[in-house]
Amino acid sequence: MNLKNDFPWLVKNKYIYFDNGATTLKPNCVIDAIKKYYVDYGTNVHNLDSKFCYQTFKAIQNARQTIASIFNAQAKNVVFCSGATEGLSLIAHGLAHVLPKNSEVLLNDFEHASNLIPWQHETKSKHFKLKFAKLQSKKIEDSIFNAISSKTKVVSIALTSNVYGNMVDYKTLVTKIRKKWKDIVIIADAAQYIPYKNVDTKCGIDFVVCSAHKMLGPTGIGAVYVANKWLNILPPLRFGGGMNEVISHSSFTYAHEFEKFEGGSLPSAQILGWQAAIKYLNKVGREKIYQHGLELKKYFVKRAKEIKNLIIFNPNTPLSIILINYKKVHSQDFANWLGSKGFIVRAGLSCAKLSKHPLKVDNFVRVSLYLYNTKQEIDKFINTVKKFKHGDELSTII
Ligand code: ALA
Repeated sequence: MNLKNDFPWLVKNKYIYFDNGATTLKPNCVIDAIKKYYVDYGTNVHNLDSKFCYQTFKAIQNARQTIASIFNAQAKNVVFCSGATEGLSLIAHGLAHVLPKNSEVLLNDFEHASNLIPWQHETKSKHFKLKFAKLQSKKIEDSIFNAISSKTKVVSIALTSNVYGNMVDYKTLVTKIRKKWKDIVIIADAAQYIPYKNVDTKCGIDFVVCSAHKMLGPTGIGAVYVANKWLNILPPLRFGGGMNEVISHSSFTYAHEFEKFEGGSLPSAQILGWQAAIKYLNKVGREKIYQHGLELKKYFVKRAKEIKNLIIFNPNTPLSIILINYKKVHSQDFANWLGSKGFIVRAGLSCAKLSKHPLKVDNFVRVSLYLYNTKQEIDKFINTVKKFKHGDELSTII
């Protein structure tokens, strides 16, 4: 795939961008959609107050439908928020109010801080506990399923770990859970999964969260898919204008469906930019993008084996996230050195700090590839690392 010219950052900066797990670069069409909002629409989303407001209203309505398509859902189930982190906080905070005493929320060590800390925070004042599935089996799905007990009321799982690059077979997992336990709440953190594949919520998932910026969209916008049954039960996190229907001196009533959760003005420019990103990804082809990543990963792993001091920690996971390190070099120093040679990577546990337990290592550099990366870039990377000698990493510091 030769898409570099669609990405102004890549045209302007002669760096090789291998940090797509952290955020992705933006194509021209996304930047154009943001600009179009500010130049052509400019208004807030009041539907009939002027021609411009109506245009914005219609554009956002249309974008919500595009965004619903990545969840195979209806627009009414899409709640906009600032990203996966806010989405998971909304869910944890809301469910904490309805979880019965002594119930358990099942997590695992690959979870990102955003799917861990909100739960930990809520356990301080509420009466539920956290349980961590022991990741013994090669398949995370089996470990999760085997850890479910009669106390489990919530299973919250990242469909792709941002460090390991696995892919949870969520359809099989959800179907198995649903056969035995109809009422367990199932939450999917799709932040790192949805850049590659849509999530089909029809299999019985209660909530899905994701962030636009991991899939070529703008920063500051994401969404929660909220299943019908939760639209009424779950309390919102943001209170104010837009989320209420009737207000008196002593109380208020909620607005309906997604509106209940979207207090305050919507980030219209970001929503429209996100819609443009999804259209771009669909045009290139979601499956093609996934296969491209897989091919790049295999190529990277094959070439990396030419360097005897380069360790690869996850050669066989199915996403283009690769954990490496140079023997006897600290990952932060190695990442700095790579940065000085024009490669942007990320060192450390990348906000998934418990991952050091299943991975049995906490010192690695993450290379995360996406649709604009190429085999030629991998060749440049490998040829550069081949020249690395112990001590070179200090040249960026001293
Ligand atoms: N969670 C993001 C990452 O994986 C920031 O780098």
